[in-house]
Amino acid sequence: MTSHMLPPIVRSVADLRAQVASWRAEGLKVGFVPTMGALHPGHLSLVQAAKTKVDRVVVSVFVNPTQFGPNEDLDAYPRQEAADRESLATVNAHLMYAPTVAEMYPDGFATKIDVSGVSEGLCGGDRPGHFSGVATVVTKLLLQVGPDVAAFGEKDYQQLQVIRRLVKDLDIPVEIMGVPISREEDGLARSSRNAYLSASDRAVAPALYRMLQRVAASLQAGVSVADALASGQADILAEGFHSVDYLELRSADNLAVLDKFDRPACVLVAARLGKTRLIDNLELAP
Ligand code: PAJ
Repeated sequence: MTSHMLPPIVRSVADLRAQVASWRAEGLKVGFVPTMGALHPGHLSLVQAAKTKVDRVVVSVFVNPTQFGPNEDLDAYPRQEAADRESLATVNAHLMYAPTVAEMYPDGFATKIDVSGVSEGLCGGDRPGHFSGVATVVTKLLLQVGPDVAAFGEKDYQQLQVIRRLVKDLDIPVEIMGVPISREEDGLARSSRNAYLSASDRAVAPALYRMLQRVAASLQAGVSVADALASGQADILAEGFHSVDYLELRSADNLAVLDKFDRPACVLVAARLGKTRLIDNLELAP
């Protein structure tokens, strides 16, 4: 068995910058993977993807309070820093950046980044203020780390679009890399929130991805968008999901609503199972 080195942890912007500056002085390229911790193989696949492009990878672990709504799971969100550090060792991440809330949002903090258009609807409709919190923290993190490349998962498809937009609009000099969804063997998209599922809900959960595959097959067979989405919604409710926040077909490049399947697209879903809100998506082309 190979033994892995635990990555060093830094908690301040100053220590983070000192480390990145010393890599830069050696001419090394730097990658960055932002996370909220409770790391699973999906997160680790982002580290592996980044490593194909850079020499050093920084992973942030920060449960960002500003992206949680008042009735959401901020307090319950899993925090397991020691286990996360060991997970990062298995993929040879080079640095763990775990700032405190006070380091990220000191007294007097007053700035917000709002990305219009792509932040609206889907998760932005169900979770008011969520993408403003994400955009603000990701902007800060990118400016703190100053990476050449930053990797984000396609699991959070709308988030990836929000980040691509803000990086373009604010001229942040970083390449944004999208990484395919990592799934359990039964198809369930990996998520830190899967830990909330009871055993019986966990057995129901893979129905979400099976439904997306059926909707995609129907659309490709010429079924109308309205009919394909209506039967998809009925399917997951029949399988045991309690409610569907959204199930939509959107344009793959800009998330515009599609009522005809006539271009590269993505079916996106958010649905509730017990107290857990699960999201997933599937890209498809005509
Ligand atoms: P978190 O949910 O921890 O996810 C961190 C990164 O891992 C995101 O880019 C997400 O898309 C990716 N990811 C999660 N599950 C994945 C899976 N099954 N397959 C592929 N990638 C996956 O997303 C956030 O944190 C936060 O909003 C953050 C960007 C860190 C800002 O706070």
